Amino acid sequence: MTKQQAKQRIDKLKKLINHHRYLYHVLDKQEISDETSDSLKHELYKLEQQFPEFITPDSPTQRVGGEPLKEFKKVEHGISMLSLEDIFSEKELQDWENYLKRLEPSAQLEYFAELKIDGFAVALIYKNGVFSVGATRGDGKVGEDVTQNLKTIESIPLKLRATPDVARLTSVVKQLEVRGEVYMERADFEKLNKELEKKGEKTYANPRNLAAGSIRQLDPKLAASRPLKFLAYDIVTDMGQTKHSEEHQILPALGFKAGLGKICKNLPDVLIFWQEIAKKRENLSHQIDGIVANVNDNHLFERLGVVGKSPRGARAFKFSPKQATTRILDIKIQVGRTGALTPVAVLEPVEIGGTTITRATLHNEDEIKRLGVRIGDTVIIERAGDVIPDVAKVLPELRVGREKEFHFPKTCPSCLSSLNRPLGEVVWRCPNTNCPARKRENLYHFVSKKAFDIEGLGPKIIDKLLDEKLIFQAVDIFTLCQGDLIPLERFAEKSAKNLIEAIQKSKKISLPRFIFALGIRHVGEETAIAMSNYFGSIDKLKMASKEELEKIPDVGPKVAESIYKWFPRKNQKFIEELFAAGIRIESQRPAPYQTKGFGAGLKGKIFVLTGALKTMSRDKAKERIRLLGGNVSESVSKMTDYLVVGESTGSKLAKARKLVGGGKGGVKIIKEKEFLEMLS
Ligand code: IVH
Repeated sequence: MTKQQAKQRIDKLKKLINHHRYLYHVLDKQEISDETSDSLKHELYKLEQQFPEFITPDSPTQRVGGEPLKEFKKVEHGISMLSLEDIFSEKELQDWENYLKRLEPSAQLEYFAELKIDGFAVALIYKNGVFSVGATRGDGKVGEDVTQNLKTIESIPLKLRATPDVARLTSVVKQLEVRGEVYMERADFEKLNKELEKKGEKTYANPRNLAAGSIRQLDPKLAASRPLKFLAYDIVTDMGQTKHSEEHQILPALGFKAGLGKICKNLPDVLIFWQEIAKKRENLSHQIDGIVANVNDNHLFERLGVVGKSPRGARAFKFSPKQATTRILDIKIQVGRTGALTPVAVLEPVEIGGTTITRATLHNEDEIKRLGVRIGDTVIIERAGDVIPDVAKVLPELRVGREKEFHFPKTCPSCLSSLNRPLGEVVWRCPNTNCPARKRENLYHFVSKKAFDIEGLGPKIIDKLLDEKLIFQAVDIFTLCQGDLIPLERFAEKSAKNLIEAIQKSKKISLPRFIFALGIRHVGEETAIAMSNYFGSIDKLKMASKEELEKIPDVGPKVAESIYKWFPRKNQKFIEELFAAGIRIESQRPAPYQTKGFGAGLKGKIFVLTGALKTMSRDKAKERIRLLGGNVSESVSKMTDYLVVGESTGSKLAKARKLVGGGKGGVKIIKEKEFLEMLS
């Protein structure tokens, strides 16, 4: 990036961040997620580090919070209320320590890690042990006097406790300042939001907004009516404490509840704390968005000083955000094995929750139009669980005029066939079954884990074999020999031998895997199992009529049609050739269905799983359902009986909610605990 480009980008980022900051902090309106705003600020911070000459006093990195509301009295903070620089990965954590070590080579680094409460920061001033002023952060230097509202919060002591161990300390400190977070517990938040909705009043997006909204309003009665709480994390006043961890000991003695924290002797301990908390996170009664890692030695912390708005000696080590902002470098069209064309955004690499993302799906032509996305645009990327990230939103404010519109092609980029888009469908398709791109994708599918599962044969090797013309179609894989492989780059005698052995081993295959490997449109792993259970052999399946196919659980007319169409002569030949090359289908033992006792309730029921389960992998869960005679389907429909909801769930849950009460008795949404009870 040239200096001039950096300046332009910095200016645009500042303007956009300031706009959303104003909406959020002054007008209590949230139009972009916290993660998006963090991501933009992070980019600005990084750019300013690279080009410090462009740091201006009005940059969002140089101040924190919003402008004080006019109606409140202003309070000047004796010591600025700073903010924290965010990090998201182990690597960024290590980078931070390396940086500290460069600054303080001889320091023995010990940390104090604590919960980062997702609330609203306030400073509390006690004069002679009595709560006298409470202030918001405001712009970091001047905040709003919200004393009356804070006084309604019972977890804020109005008078400091003078227990014998702290009496000595409090008596020497005429004025004491404690900082912490006002927040609301999850359950209270949900209850209150429901009540507000009933009354037709404005509801809040998250507990933090609700806490902020309750404190930054002029009527203390309203604050009093809301179940707000306070957790303390910092004693600003020097009481002779030398470590941050000591503050966490003193706080409860003074009458404050302090957030959970732990002394970490080294950086790996910080990482372990972060991992442990991430696991417990959903079970906490209040929201947290990460941990805060502090250099525990207060003198060292002071010496390290401040950069911009944040102390060098602390970092907010956040949990995987689901969103980040980045730029679209190009839009490419991917041809799938069924001929579906998917536009894919090639991204400037960006980290989301420790994973570097370089591509995001744009789904289809309509989605590109809906988003109004252009090549060169800055966009918000969203990632939910393990699914492919997608582009959630374009930030047109950051355009510079060089962005290019994207026109969806009219022909297949691989074989140049004219594309089809049936009426009412959103996907353009390449109709050519001999399309090289489709054939390539079919081969990737054929050898994949849930199909022939040939160890060591992934897309890269398939590409090589195709490019070297060693294979043209799936059956050719089984006639490869060691001598074919050895001349190839990255193959030696041993690796060639291993691959040939893996190919030989894969020749014995179960019927469901074999059916899945065929790559029939709409036939996923579950449908393949259902087909296998129903017909028991490929010969019977080949002969099946459409009506017969529709009798398979979870197979509707669309899927039946697709299977039926797949089996004409050409594809039958494909199967025969596979058998001729030595493929053998292992005889199947019927699943030992349980008809009585525990788990009997699963028989014949259709389950859909969404989100990660805590106690077992998704594959294990599927296996157990099947073992008890249940079926697993990939998507929610009217046929679904149970939707098992794990963590971080997405569209399936929304769809199930719509179907609850509909269909045949409706979809029952159950949590992991209920699911385990059904299994046990
Ligand atoms: S220490 C230098 N500790 O997170 C700033 N902050 O993103 C001192 N927060 O402004 C902050 N829990 O509002 C600290 N245990 C904790 C925290 C915490 C939540 C908030 C606080 C801060 C913001 C920074």
